[in-house]
Amino acid sequence: MSKTVLITGGAGFIGSHFTEYLLRHYPDYRVRVLDALTYAGRRENLAAVEGDPRFEFIHGDVRDKTTVRTALEGVQYVVHFAAETHVDRSILDPDAFITTDVYGTFVMLETARAIGVERFVHVSTDEVYGSAEQGAFDEGAPLRPSSPYAASKAGADLLAQAYYRTYGLPVLIVRPSNTFGPRQYPEKLIPFFTVRALHDQPLPLYGDGQQRRDWLYVDDHVRAIDVVLHQGQVGEAYNIAGGNERVNLEVARLIVQTLGKPESLIQFVHDRPGHDRRYALDDRKLRALGWQPQAHFETALRDTVLWYAQHPEWWQPILQQQADYRQFVERWYAERSLPKTPKSAE
Ligand code: DAU
Repeated sequence: MSKTVLITGGAGFIGSHFTEYLLRHYPDYRVRVLDALTYAGRRENLAAVEGDPRFEFIHGDVRDKTTVRTALEGVQYVVHFAAETHVDRSILDPDAFITTDVYGTFVMLETARAIGVERFVHVSTDEVYGSAEQGAFDEGAPLRPSSPYAASKAGADLLAQAYYRTYGLPVLIVRPSNTFGPRQYPEKLIPFFTVRALHDQPLPLYGDGQQRRDWLYVDDHVRAIDVVLHQGQVGEAYNIAGGNERVNLEVARLIVQTLGKPESLIQFVHDRPGHDRRYALDDRKLRALGWQPQAHFETALRDTVLWYAQHPEWWQPILQQQADYRQFVERWYAERSLPKTPKSAE
C-alpha cells in the first residue's frame, strides 16, 4: 500500500542508505528527507535518488517546529535518524548534542503526535546501555550512558518511550551497534583510519586498542529498520547487532593490510575520556521477526576500505574544504595534549 515516509537525517550515512533502500524496495512509497545538512549530512549522499519523482528533499532542522510541521504533512511513517552522532565531538562540544538529539527528538515526537502518524521509528544506539563488561544487553537492560553523546541519545530514547506510554504515539525504537560502510563521515574509526592510511598518516588508536565493538554492515542495518518499521510491535525497542565483535586493534590492522600499508602507521595514543570498553547486544527479539545479518565482516570491511580508496572525490572535499573538519581533528588532538602526529602511548 502507498505510504509517504519522512526520513530525518536522510542525507547522512545510514539515512541515505535507508532512503535508497526504501525507494528501491517499495515502488508505491514516496520518501521525503528532512536534513539540516550540518556537516555529516551531504546532498551528494542522495545522488542516486535525486531524479526519482517519488523523492523529495527538505532542507531544515528538526529543532524548528515550523519546518517539522511542514515536513510531516501527509506522512504516515517516520524514521528519525537526525542526530549529532560523534562521541569525540560530544566530549569537546556537547551543546549541539543536547539541542539536536534531545530537543530535536522532542519536536519530532510532539509534532508527530499533533499531526498523527501511523508509525514512528526512533533510531537510538547501543551506546545508551553503556559498556558491557560481560554478556550482552537485551532491550530491558537499564540505560547507563557514558558520553554526552550517549546521554543525549538516552534522553531521546526515553522521550520516545514516554510518548508511547503517555500519548499512545506509535513509537518503535531501534538500538543498532557500530555501523560501517560507504559514505560514512571520515571521523568514525573505519573511514577516519582509512583516509589517514591512504595519506600515510598515523592512525591514533585510543588506549590499549583492546576496546571491543560489534560491527554491523550498513546494508544489514537498513534491512533491520525495514523489518522493524513494517513488522515491529509498537511500543517496543529492538537491538540490532552485527554479530562481529572485534577489538579496535584488529580492525586497524585489517585496514592497513587491505591498503598494503605498514602496521607501523598504527600508533597508541591517550584514551578517549569515559571510553566504553565493550558493546554487546542480545538481538534475539529482532531475529524473531526474521532478520539476521548477512554480511561477512572481513569481506564487507575490505569492500568498504576499497570504496574509500576508489572514491577520493567523495571525501577529498571534506578534507580540503570543510574547515570544520580540520578544526575538529586539530582541537581533538590539542585539547587532549596529543601531538598532531601522535607518538606511541606511554
Ligand atoms: O555503537 C553505535 C555507535 O557507534 C553510534 O551510536 C555512534 O554514533 C558512533 O559514533 C559509534 O560510536 P563509537 O564511539 O563506538 O565509534 P567510533 O568510530 O568513534 O570509535 C570506534 C572505536 O574506535 C571506539 O572504541 C573508539 C576507537 N577509536 C576511534 C577513533 C575515531 C580510536 O581508537 N581512534 C580513533 O581515532
